[in-house]
Amino acid sequence: MSDAVARGAAVLGVGAYRPRRVVSNEEICEQIDSTDEWIRTRTGIASRRWAEPDETLDHMATAAATGALEASGLDPTALGMILAASCTDVQPIQPLGVRVAAKLGTEVAALSINATCAGFCYGLGLARELVRGGTADHVLVVGAERLSDVTDHDDRGTAFIFADGAGAFVVGRSDEDAIGPVVWGSDGVRGEVLRLVPDWGEFRDDRALGSPAISMQGRRVFKWAAEEMPKAAAAACKAAGVSIADIDVLVPHQANHRITETIVKALELKDDVVVADDIVTTGNTSSASIPLAVHRLRAEGRVQRGDRALLIGFGGGLAYAAQVATLP
Ligand code: UT7
Repeated sequence: MSDAVARGAAVLGVGAYRPRRVVSNEEICEQIDSTDEWIRTRTGIASRRWAEPDETLDHMATAAATGALEASGLDPTALGMILAASCTDVQPIQPLGVRVAAKLGTEVAALSINATCAGFCYGLGLARELVRGGTADHVLVVGAERLSDVTDHDDRGTAFIFADGAGAFVVGRSDEDAIGPVVWGSDGVRGEVLRLVPDWGEFRDDRALGSPAISMQGRRVFKWAAEEMPKAAAAACKAAGVSIADIDVLVPHQANHRITETIVKALELKDDVVVADDIVTTGNTSSASIPLAVHRLRAEGRVQRGDRALLIGFGGGLAYAAQVATLP
């Protein structure tokens, strides 16, 4: 076996950017017929962050990336690749990954990826392979979203859920295989349950349709996630060669705390497992939610270096990806 194949990959550092503006449930209820109690009970969300005009995707992604690089003790020039996940970037011809590279002051290879709320775990899976295969020594994976831009704030079915922010990991060479194989897949046949309506092409052709906004059949997305994600999570543990009892930290995409509870119950995790609950004050930030949740757990001292975390991304597409990763 060559050296390139034998080496492992690990998460070296984590960074985050949370927009300044805190939006309470009371503020949401000024526009929809709902209550703080309903939103808390049905989703776990007490407040969320919405980005202001100067808190662009580029700004948030670069801030999260800078934090992850600093935590890793690395200069941007050490990167061999940037993978930027987003489903709310509206400038695909000048990809977000390349824009972040420019803001970091490096001419590294960079690209944007979109697997909606699974995008970060897709990026982490790709980063692992790039590092293990010897293509890059260090890969930056960043998830950044401005979902408030594509939320219909009068829609009772979605106005309270979606939010903004960015989170990043730096992945690098390691003697140990500290990131397990990714388990991923999609169910595109059911994909119409979560999409933009109208899409940007329909809007271009008929402005009367109004600006694109997220349309979600919440119950159907919930059912898919609750049924399928425990299976994906168990498969990710198996692929990593660990048992469910070896998992110290559960970090599912922060979509709804009831989905998280369903996954916890279905997996029969150990009693003292730490479960990410960043949704309470961050809302659902799609591809940014997993690194944001990990960042908070570390900042609050609820996890330790070396803890084994099970990450599960799922959402629009319908796409999902899960892996086990040792925390830095
Ligand atoms: O990140 C991408 C992936 N996204 C997700 O994973 C989201 C998955 N889905 C969900 O999180 C949930 O489906 C929601 C939180 C979006 C909605 O919760 P739900 O429990 O599925 O609500 P529902 O649409 O089934 O409606 C239940 C009840 C209905 O009343 P009745 O018919 O039981 O009397 C609705 O009219 O709740 C009512 N309702 C509301 N009440 C107050 C629906 N929306 C609201 C609201 N405020 N905003």
